[in-house]
Amino acid sequence: MSLLARIRDQITQSGPMPFERFMALALYDPDDGFFGSGPLRSTKSGDFLTSPEVSPWFGRTLAGCVEPWLRRDGESTLVEVGAGSGTLLSPLVEALGSTLGRTIAVDASPAAQAALADAGFETLSDMNAVTGPIRGAVVANELLDNLPMRLGVRAGSGWEERWVGSDGDSLNLVAAPARAATIEWLEAYAGPVPDGGVVEVQLDAAQWLRDAIDLLEGGLVVVIDYGATAEELEPRRAIGTLRTYRAHHLGPDPLLEPGATDITADVNFTALLGVAHDAGTTAELHRQDDFLAGLGLRDTLAELRRQELELARGDDAMARLKVRSELKDAETLLHPRGLGDFRVLVVEV
Ligand SMILES: C[S@@+](CC[C@H](N)C(=O)[O-])C[C@H]1O[C@@H](n2cnc3c(N)ncnc32)[C@H](O)[C@@H]1O
Repeated sequence: MSLLARIRDQITQSGPMPFERFMALALYDPDDGFFGSGPLRSTKSGDFLTSPEVSPWFGRTLAGCVEPWLRRDGESTLVEVGAGSGTLLSPLVEALGSTLGRTIAVDASPAAQAALADAGFETLSDMNAVTGPIRGAVVANELLDNLPMRLGVRAGSGWEERWVGSDGDSLNLVAAPARAATIEWLEAYAGPVPDGGVVEVQLDAAQWLRDAIDLLEGGLVVVIDYGATAEELEPRRAIGTLRTYRAHHLGPDPLLEPGATDITADVNFTALLGVAHDAGTTAELHRQDDFLAGLGLRDTLAELRRQELELARGDDAMARLKVRSELKDAETLLHPRGLGDFRVLVVEV
């Protein structure tokens, strides 16, 4: 039976399903979930292209932020959560060299776990299985946008939720009263929302950050993702930011083919800053282009350009093409309306 049919049956038996439950099944169901089953998703031939998949300079450059926090006696631990194929971890670990003690790659997807184990990493399926406390860093790129969310809708001066119902064959969104935790989050972090506007309520992302902070007795949590502050997200609130991806393109309505598409939404970084603040930590939010430039990526680009020019004077066309392609890929990380517009949250514990 398809995942869609199973979800429909559950709704027929028990009534509408909270949106976060639907999203958890669509993404993590062990038989049919988008990440819970099937092939590795974050690859050039997969469904979306992330910064580390675009260029190894992402991981290498990030080393400049993590390195000062690692103890040099070999006891520090680096944890990447949602490590995918390992394209962030490999260049990062290589750049950190002997500064690093232990590296743990965490991913919920069995296909990703297999790829990470093949690459030689100690691999776990859940960050909460890491024995703490640790000193070092917890890093996550494009993870929090996938954690199950509730859907809140502004209704006059109050809030409603949208749950998943069924009208026979297909699934649809139905109005439901807002639960207390939903209202509490919305009042604290939604920012300005027009009547009827939609807000993805990211309670699991908040809990993830609390858990990552708790895992550390000292060090950094670095969260990179698309999204913005609540104020910056205001223009997107009329219809909300929930969407799907498949084969590098925007996919269909999330309710149409559960398990066959990624389901994601912009991360509300105001909420994460609030969690970091409540935990008594210091947190800074950057744009990805500024953050990587601050760590020297523009100098790297200048050096690659110089190498390309030098090779242009010789007759090794292949070598020149290789440097040119490396340069173009690294430039993509800074594109101001693309990956450069991502946000980087750095929390010091
Ligand atoms: C969008 S991909 C990003 C992969 C990689 N970080 C990158 O940037 O290429 C999200 C990854 O997070 C994993 N994931 C999703 N939820 C997770 C969770 N709760 N714990 C650990 N991994 C998770 C997925 O299996 C997937 O590999």
